[in-house]
This record gives sequence, C-alpha cells and structure tokens, in this order.
Amino acid sequence: MSRIAYVNGRYLPCCEATVHVEDRGYQFSDGVYEVCEVREGRIIDERRHLARLQRSLDELRIRFPMAPAALGVVLRETVRRNRVRDGIVYLQITRGVARRDFAFPPPGTAPSVVVTARNLDAAGNEKTAAEGIAVITVPDNRWERVDIKSISLLPNVLAKQAAREQGVKEAWFIDSDGRVTEGSSSNAWIVTMGGKVITRAADKGILRGITRSVLLEVIEAQGLTLEERPFTVAEAYGAREAFLTSASQIVMPVVRINGRPIGNGAPGTVATALRRDYHRHAESA
Ligand code: PDD
Repeated sequence: MSRIAYVNGRYLPCCEATVHVEDRGYQFSDGVYEVCEVREGRIIDERRHLARLQRSLDELRIRFPMAPAALGVVLRETVRRNRVRDGIVYLQITRGVARRDFAFPPPGTAPSVVVTARNLDAAGNEKTAAEGIAVITVPDNRWERVDIKSISLLPNVLAKQAAREQGVKEAWFIDSDGRVTEGSSSNAWIVTMGGKVITRAADKGILRGITRSVLLEVIEAQGLTLEERPFTVAEAYGAREAFLTSASQIVMPVVRINGRPIGNGAPGTVATALRRDYHRHAESA
C-alpha cells in the first residue's frame, strides 16, 4: 500500500506529493508543526494540539489556513487513508510559496499545509518502556522562542544525532546554569527520593508539551506532589526516577543519564503508573 500525504487540498501518493522549491518552509524553516498520537485509529488530544498550533501560528503571524474543524477532517482522513491504527499524524504549515525574500511575502500568500500519518511499532514501544531508555546531555544552544513549535529544528537534529552516535535514544538540553530544559523531542521529568515529581515550568525555555499538560492532570489524580521548577543534571543523577514525555512515546522511563544509572537502573513505579493511566485522561476523537 502506498503511503498517502495531504498537500494543499489533495491526497496524493507520497512519491507524487511535492512542495514548491520556493516554499518558505524549505527556504527558511518558516513554519510550524504538530505531531499527534494515533491510538486504535483515533487521534489523541486533537483539540489541545490544534489550540497549540493556533498559538504557534499567531506567534509567527501565519494565517490559520482553514477552519480548525476542516483541519480535523483532513487529519482524520489522512489517518484513515494510511490505515494507521497505532502511530502518529504529522501536520506542517508554512508561510507559503513566494520569491525568496527574508521579509514576509505579500498578504494573501496562501500558507502551505502538509499532513502525513504512519504506524509505529506499538508492541516495540511497550517493550522499550518496560526496559527504559538512556539519555545523554548536550548544551542547549537553541533560540529563545522554543515555546513555538516551529519547524526550525537544527539544534534538535544535532542533539538527537549525538544521542544516536552514543547509542542512546534521546538527548536532554542543559541551559547555561546547568539545568535541564527538555529533550530534543520530548519534555524531561524526575522523581525525587522523597517522591516529588519535578519538571521545568512551561515558560519560554521549553515547549509546552501536550503530553506534559495532560500528565499534570494524571499526577493530580494520583495524588502525587508536583513541583514545576528547573532541576540540575546533578539532581537528576540523584533522583529516584527519571522519565520523558511526548506524543509518540507518552511516558517513557529514563534509566541512565550520561551512563549513570538512575535509581535502581530500572523503570520506576511512578513513571510506570503514569504511563498506565495516561489515556484515561487524554481525549480521544
Ligand atoms: N516532539 N519538546 C520538544 C522539543 C518536542 O519536540 C516535543 C514533541 C515535546 C513534547 O511535546 P508533546 O507532548 O506535545 O508531543 C517537547 C514531537 C513528538 C516531534 O517533534 O516528533
């Protein structure tokens, strides 16, 4: 079965789905994106993802390309046409096609919209979560507006590649004060020896993850104590547990940071229980 992509109003086999060479996404990374989890054929937390998309577009002064409900239809249709059961749907909107000029193109330039969807290995993800993953740390050298989910991801690409080259799954960014900001494509969390769950506040130093937002509700429902504050790498080394969150991994236990085992070096009870309960709190459309 050939994969199908939605490109500016048409559903096309991926090999025929193309964007213009002067698309501003291609030329300048001038665009935004969202990734939603698909579970049993349903899009998870779509409303929240579209609300964050709206915010990212507003921050960059890109027009919302169609009614949010219509965009929801496109997301679901792309999932359906690709027969995605457990996986992700990817949505990208750029400032459109115009002759290359750094300043914004003429008003009325239509934003470009691309949607793709694919299955992920759900059983493989469960197995990974049962074992936990390792992460490394890298300096956070990104711009200040990482709260915008922009497609300008070069530092994230380099960080993820550094992780791959060291045989691990993720890299955590460290700010100039030695504190963890977030992962290259995930939010970062620890559980202290006293059982408090710690994650950085969603100020401008991190992306306000949708998984993160929903997990705050799960944490409350489980009666856990939450502290939204930065934590250092040293504090993470001494933590009882660590984990990360993202739409594709939900809650993923982190069992080693820079080669040092966290807690007893196995997935912790808090992360495991949060992962188990997540979808009871997420919205499924
Ligand atoms: N990444 N921080 C960064 C830098 C991210 O790229 C992501 C998501 C997150 C978690 O956000 P959410 O919970 O909304 O997925 C945090 C997506 C999955 C990606 O780029 O593939």
